[in-house]
Amino acid sequence: MITAQAVIQKKRDRETLTSSEISTFLRGYMSLQIADYQVAAWLMAVYLNGMTTDETLTLTREMRDSGTVLNLSSIPGKKIDKHSTGGVGDKTSMMVTPIAAACGVTVPMITGRALGHTGGTLDKLESIPGFNAKPSPERIIEILKSTGAVIMGQTDDLAPADRRIYALRDVTATVESIPLITASILSKKLAEGIDGLVMDVKTGSGAFMPTLKAATSLSHSIVDVCRAMKTKIVVLITDMEQPLGRAIGNALEIRECIEFLNGRTPEDLETVTIALAAHMIRLGGQARSLDHASKLAYEAVSKGEAAKRFRHIIRAQGGDERVMDNPDLLPRAAHTEDFRAKTSGFVVRCDAKRLGLASNALGAGRYRVEDPVDLAVGIYLDKKVGDRVVKGDVLCRIHWNDEQRFSSAVRLIEEAYEIKNQRPRRRPLIHAVLKGQR
Ligand code: URA
Repeated sequence: MITAQAVIQKKRDRETLTSSEISTFLRGYMSLQIADYQVAAWLMAVYLNGMTTDETLTLTREMRDSGTVLNLSSIPGKKIDKHSTGGVGDKTSMMVTPIAAACGVTVPMITGRALGHTGGTLDKLESIPGFNAKPSPERIIEILKSTGAVIMGQTDDLAPADRRIYALRDVTATVESIPLITASILSKKLAEGIDGLVMDVKTGSGAFMPTLKAATSLSHSIVDVCRAMKTKIVVLITDMEQPLGRAIGNALEIRECIEFLNGRTPEDLETVTIALAAHMIRLGGQARSLDHASKLAYEAVSKGEAAKRFRHIIRAQGGDERVMDNPDLLPRAAHTEDFRAKTSGFVVRCDAKRLGLASNALGAGRYRVEDPVDLAVGIYLDKKVGDRVVKGDVLCRIHWNDEQRFSSAVRLIEEAYEIKNQRPRRRPLIHAVLKGQR
């Protein structure tokens, strides 16, 4: 008989667990035969001693199968999703979804809320008046059939094992483990019934995996598991040393998405968005090559097809589509205040983590899942790394509602910016691309 103690002991002693040991352990936990404290001990053993690809694969499969796996077989064509490990100002989901859908790919996107210093797509979308991020299962199919895409929150029956295990990891200092992160992300994504996934693994100060080494290890782990699961996968490791684009904060980011889809965009946001969308289009079988896919993605934006598709998605999910023509209908903060450069020179640091924390301090994010979110507040960056500034120039504009929160945010913004005499070296926006197919 496989006992919980034996499974914990084996992992503690750096041995490799068999599939049936992992399955029995996970199923025992979900059926309440195995206690939280036993799983906590096991998680620490995994954190310290790691897992093989086969072990990670079994854990991912068990976690995926702990709940409902969506069946999208009634919808023709390839279903492709994109997922990011999270960042600051990272609003690409709201742009790649309509772009890929406009190019013939079906996108059943399940996305999350803000936590820590990183923003969440669901909170951003909920700044669109009326937007429903929790359509019923029947409605999800209808929306996918009519618009080619849906952007929704995770339901309780999707990979429930992940929710319980994540809560334990959070309180036992075992979040930062490559096999546990791999299983956590992929169990949810693979429960969507997708054919392929484009992952955006962020690296840099504002990322969950700040070093390129850790981001690369996570990427390899994700590719290995997807390959074994026969799910097409492309991982892009992209930069999060400074925020992506210029807007940070829920409604401000939606405004920037609308501007992007209407043809006005900061360069870094365009580069990353088009790269992600192109890989989705390619995985979705709608282009002959990656170059062709990039061309289709650009055209979807320049011809207005992606904007039209985003409008349809908003309408299908109950939102007020008039925001596409008039972004002033989005929530707006009561006050704005410019934050100015105290010296002249070049911006050498525009720290993503500190700016994410500053946006949180204003009220845009949350530290605990139950915290309320202020949809209107945030920061708009006028200057980013490499920009020349003269003393007194506006570095960023702060959108705020509460004076005390504003003061806390200013302190963080002061720490986020650094100005020096010498122009800094440019960091690549896309550090690496890893593919599942050999
Ligand atoms: N995101 C997840 O969904 N799970 C993790 O473990 C880390 C990031």
